[in-house]
Amino acid sequence: MNFDVRPLSTHLGAEIRGIDLNDGLGDNVAGELKQIWCENGGLMVIRGQENLTTEAHIEFGAALGPLFGAPDQSPLQDTVSRYIHPKHPEIYRVSNKLDESGEPLGRKGAGTYWHSDVSFRETPAGASVLHGVEIPPVGGDTIFANMTKAFEDLSEPMKDLLRPLHAWHDFEMAARTQYAKPIVVEDDMSGANKALHPVVRTHADTGKENLYVNPGFTSHLDGFDADESRWILEPLYRHATRAEYLYRHTWQPHDVIVWDNRCLMHYAVMDYGDAPRYMERTTCIGERPV
Ligand code: SIN
Repeated sequence: MNFDVRPLSTHLGAEIRGIDLNDGLGDNVAGELKQIWCENGGLMVIRGQENLTTEAHIEFGAALGPLFGAPDQSPLQDTVSRYIHPKHPEIYRVSNKLDESGEPLGRKGAGTYWHSDVSFRETPAGASVLHGVEIPPVGGDTIFANMTKAFEDLSEPMKDLLRPLHAWHDFEMAARTQYAKPIVVEDDMSGANKALHPVVRTHADTGKENLYVNPGFTSHLDGFDADESRWILEPLYRHATRAEYLYRHTWQPHDVIVWDNRCLMHYAVMDYGDAPRYMERTTCIGERPV
């Protein structure tokens, strides 16, 4: 299969044209894509997937790793069950649209904070695959932060200071503080998860170290009180979201973005008012961070 690849920014992202994910990918192409993905910081944008069926999306996601919600796997998170596609438990809907009975199709404003998907689970997300089915005429970009480059650029004493630390990641942190509170009810918290992860993790495929904390879900550093945690985490977040480490994606309809939650944070920009936006996401279960 012939396809075109071009970098999207200096440190992050590759754009792929000339692939139709509906056709399925042979092992060779899947391996080649995975290599391009790793070499470009864990971000690729596959353009022009107008014909992508939900089934083909799921098949593509499953080729990158076991999917949350697949028949033999755990669900993404009990608290988001109402936003899971009714016919496809592997699909999480991100949308501000309502269904025929006036119920929200997806979680409006999901991800409008820096985060790494599902970092509150012991085995958090690896790849996420997001299909932009309906895109607002302007706005609704997604921004990605390269946590490998952010770690690489720290001084050696700072790296040594961070390596032994662990941080708690807690779904409640985002639900209570970061997004649209009116849609979060007490019941939402009953299936919330929390997990302890190293602040610096080593990527299972590239062997590179990266920061693994995010303002969305990281509640505090293990053994530190809330103030002490903030003294360390907040400057780290400021550093990791410097413009040099970011790629901002302006969606075209039927882009498919594959990002690596193990080494990136992302932020969904909620600046499109009531213009309809509908995205479908599959989420791979990654390794336990080490
Ligand atoms: C997400 O955090 O998965 C949603 C990203 C987006 O809506 O742009």
